[in-house]
Amino acid sequence: MASPLIFSMLYLGLVTLQLSLFHLSASSNVHIVYMGEKRHDEPELVSESHHHILSHVLGSKEAAEESIIYSYKHGFSGFAAVLTQTQAKHIADFPGVVNVIPNRIFSLCTTRSWDFLQVRPDIRNGILAQSRSGSGSIIGIMDTGIWPESESFKDDGMGEIPSRWRGICQDGEQFNRSHCNRKIIGARWYIKGYEAEFGKLNRSDGVEFLSPRDASGHGTHTSSTAAGALIENASFMGLAGGVARGGAPSAWLAIYKVCWSTGGCSSADLLAAFDDAISDGVDVVSLSLGSPPPLPSYAEDVVSIGSFHAVTKGISVVCSGGNSGPYPQSVINTAPWILTVAASTIDRAFPTVITLGNNQSLVGHAVYTGMDVNKYFPLVYGEDIASINADEDTARSCDSGSLNETLARGKVVLCFQSRSQRSATVAASTVLSVNGTGLIFAKVPTKDVSLSWSLPCVQIDFTIGTYLLTYMEATRNPVVKFGPTRTALGQQISPEVAFFSSRGPSSLSPTVLKPDIAAPGVNILASWSPASSPLYYDAPGTKQLQLKFKLESGTSMSCPHISAVVALLKTIHPDWSPAAINSALITTASLEDAYDQSIVAEGAPHKQADPFDYGGGHVNPNKAISPGLVYDSGVSDYVQFLCSMGYNDTATSLVAGTPTKCLKSTNFLVNLNLPSITIPDLKQRLTVTRTVRNVGPENSVYIARIQTPAGVSVRVKPKILRFNLTVKVLNFNVVFRSHLRIQGRYSFGNLFWEDGFHVVRIPLIVRTIIEDFYAET
Ligand SMILES: *[C@@H]1O[C@H](CO)[C@@H](O)[C@H](O)[C@H]1NC(C)=O
Ligand SMILES: *[C@@H]1O[C@H](CO)[C@@H](O)[C@H](O)[C@H]1NC(C)=O
Ligand SMILES: *[C@@H]1O[C@H](CO)[C@@H](O)[C@H](O)[C@H]1NC(C)=O
Ligand SMILES: *[C@@H]1O[C@H](CO)[C@@H](O)[C@H](O)[C@H]1NC(C)=O
Ligand SMILES: *[C@@H]1O[C@H](CO)[C@@H](O)[C@H](O)[C@H]1NC(C)=O
Ligand SMILES: *[C@@H]1O[C@H](CO)[C@@H](O)[C@H](O)[C@H]1NC(C)=O
Ligand SMILES: *[C@@H]1O[C@H](CO)[C@@H](O)[C@H](O)[C@H]1NC(C)=O
Ligand SMILES: *[C@@H]1O[C@H](CO)[C@@H](O)[C@H](O)[C@H]1NC(C)=O
Repeated sequence: MASPLIFSMLYLGLVTLQLSLFHLSASSNVHIVYMGEKRHDEPELVSESHHHILSHVLGSKEAAEESIIYSYKHGFSGFAAVLTQTQAKHIADFPGVVNVIPNRIFSLCTTRSWDFLQVRPDIRNGILAQSRSGSGSIIGIMDTGIWPESESFKDDGMGEIPSRWRGICQDGEQFNRSHCNRKIIGARWYIKGYEAEFGKLNRSDGVEFLSPRDASGHGTHTSSTAAGALIENASFMGLAGGVARGGAPSAWLAIYKVCWSTGGCSSADLLAAFDDAISDGVDVVSLSLGSPPPLPSYAEDVVSIGSFHAVTKGISVVCSGGNSGPYPQSVINTAPWILTVAASTIDRAFPTVITLGNNQSLVGHAVYTGMDVNKYFPLVYGEDIASINADEDTARSCDSGSLNETLARGKVVLCFQSRSQRSATVAASTVLSVNGTGLIFAKVPTKDVSLSWSLPCVQIDFTIGTYLLTYMEATRNPVVKFGPTRTALGQQISPEVAFFSSRGPSSLSPTVLKPDIAAPGVNILASWSPASSPLYYDAPGTKQLQLKFKLESGTSMSCPHISAVVALLKTIHPDWSPAAINSALITTASLEDAYDQSIVAEGAPHKQADPFDYGGGHVNPNKAISPGLVYDSGVSDYVQFLCSMGYNDTATSLVAGTPTKCLKSTNFLVNLNLPSITIPDLKQRLTVTRTVRNVGPENSVYIARIQTPAGVSVRVKPKILRFNLTVKVLNFNVVFRSHLRIQGRYSFGNLFWEDGFHVVRIPLIVRTIIEDFYAET
């Protein structure tokens, strides 16, 4: 059986918050000394300047060499070193040093989906056909590494490695140059920051390879989702079977292993990976990790800083939005230059029938129960078989150690989700430890299915759970039988925004709509690392098999879906900026499910989804090819945005890496040229400006249409935009006026620009406030 730490990694997708144990400890002494844009083109000179500063502070060259962990010298300048608080303060005062950031520890956020998104080779003029399946784009994955032998990474039919590629295939444990090919064109690994923080990697905690090889499975899953080759007959224990493929099957992969299966990922390592990826020449960075709120300021967040430099060089950065939903303000990775991804469900389900002794049949969900489907087993309630050492509350949800071995042995145990115990994972291991034969776990109804290969497990909702209790009270010997799990396609309404997907508004910059977009992230089948796979029996009595594929849920899974679509768009539009690509995705996203109904958000209760659930909407890759108009932004816009957030020249320079000047004139909080307008504090009247560039036919006339958010009036000036050969870029104003004289709540609308063919839609989000609401009377 997997060790507890490995176990938590497998579920990292969904338990980001519980991993706070990996947060920075007070005794931490790794610091990132950030020096902004590099001053020399010679990496050696840059590196020398780092040693020079460090020697000065530490007193000797030897001490400097001992302390330095990384010298960042390609994309930007800076270094990571082991420093005391005093030394860190001292270095911060050095000329050229823009900031000293304490190291942070991140955790990872966890194929049908491509057909579901209509990213299919058989669609004429579809995104796959037009992009030649992403051929020519390089996707950089910063994750737990890769299992290179997986069929997803075969390089049949892949193009020659491009001459512009400057990356390497770094040697290590069970990994050398022979493991790279024309699919995996680069692989590097970073552990110095992690080890400086936690000491040497402790291998007795689980399997790990000191190399790009993936011991956890997470990185293999995200990589194969983004750019895996076609594999016939993929399945998870026979479920979800079919052809498995990545979204951009002809794109190249560059692997940056920054996360370790025995712990988290260190920000010093992550920044080193950004530094290399920028100089290696990737086109897209895919980052399925982050740390939960409170969010660090943009000047102290390595994801913000690294991605800023990448975006400056034309590299798109796509991040998961976090798994702390459905609560508001839980979204992470919120910098406006990042594309932040929410998770949605697809049209595949795993219904599993359970039958009671009274012949009543009920439907739950499972992935592989492995139970004898012809046999009834005794059914008991966790609370009724509590160990004398445990209280009934913990036994109700089957917390570890709460059940009595004598009473549980050989029985199916019914447990209920509690506030402190949200997943079936713990309950399954508790029931297994007391030799129960199966678990029925009642929880709030969501579509993601917890995996359990060690113990047959069926998930049901509270209504069915309550019915089971009634049956058990009325029956002397309650029994239950598990039916086989079925893979049902196209039989459930989808997409819906997943329960766990983190919600906006951004707690750091509420004028920037986050998340940006939603993509499939529930029960996603992709390749897995055999090193972390439990053995399982295909059928009772047959030989044990190792998992090559696995179903996982999380914004970790939705992020590489968008990374792949971005790679496809880059092949089609190599000259578009990261902001233009983001705009194309957001303005063409869908608000309706497969039945033309408004998309719903899983929550408590279900509700119609709004932009804080899914940003612009659900990704619509084929539409994003020709968005008509784009809302573009560049480095100087982002700098002015930081100024408007209250960062002074020094602080904005921290993020941008070059000396910057704040212009006082414009309010870039609302006027940053995003494909959305969010006003968290409308008092009476506010005019917002936007700029659009025509990327459609030269002579186009667009007319504005508005769906007004409740409680305000909205006017667009001008109402008509005329583009021709010489006029490609036009500005317009949107004037908001509040009608409410009470403290309001967020309301939602849309602004459309339409030319009869393109519909360019951006969300409008407004909350009215009254000035004297908090005034003392
Ligand atoms: C690289 O690894 C492969 C497979 O593990 C092995 O056969 C080969 O000898 C190695 N090559 C080098 C140069 O070490
Ligand atoms: C490694 O972990 C194991 C189990 O968690 C522990 O017993 C052992 O002391 C650790 N070793 C080191 C060197 O920390
Ligand atoms: C897929 O699996 C089925 C049943 O196991 C087998 O009959 C078929 O030949 C396989 N197809 C391929 C392409 O491997
Ligand atoms: C349940 O159904 C089976 C066969 O369908 C039947 O033999 C049995 O008597 C039924 N049991 C009850 C309690 O109705
Ligand atoms: C478990 O239940 C048995 C039978 O009721 C009882 O004798 C025993 O003391 C219980 N043990 C614990 C640890 O609860
Ligand atoms: C569970 O069953 C196994 C094998 O039958 C036995 O060795 C073990 O002691 C049992 N554990 C408990 C907690 O009853
Ligand atoms: C700029 O802001 C930083 C912190 O945000 C502060 O330490 C510094 O003194 C400020 N500089 C100026 C010139 O105001
Ligand atoms: C484009 O439109 C502008 C303003 O309407 C006009 O001045 C210009 O002559 C037009 N250019 C062409 C090539 O038609």
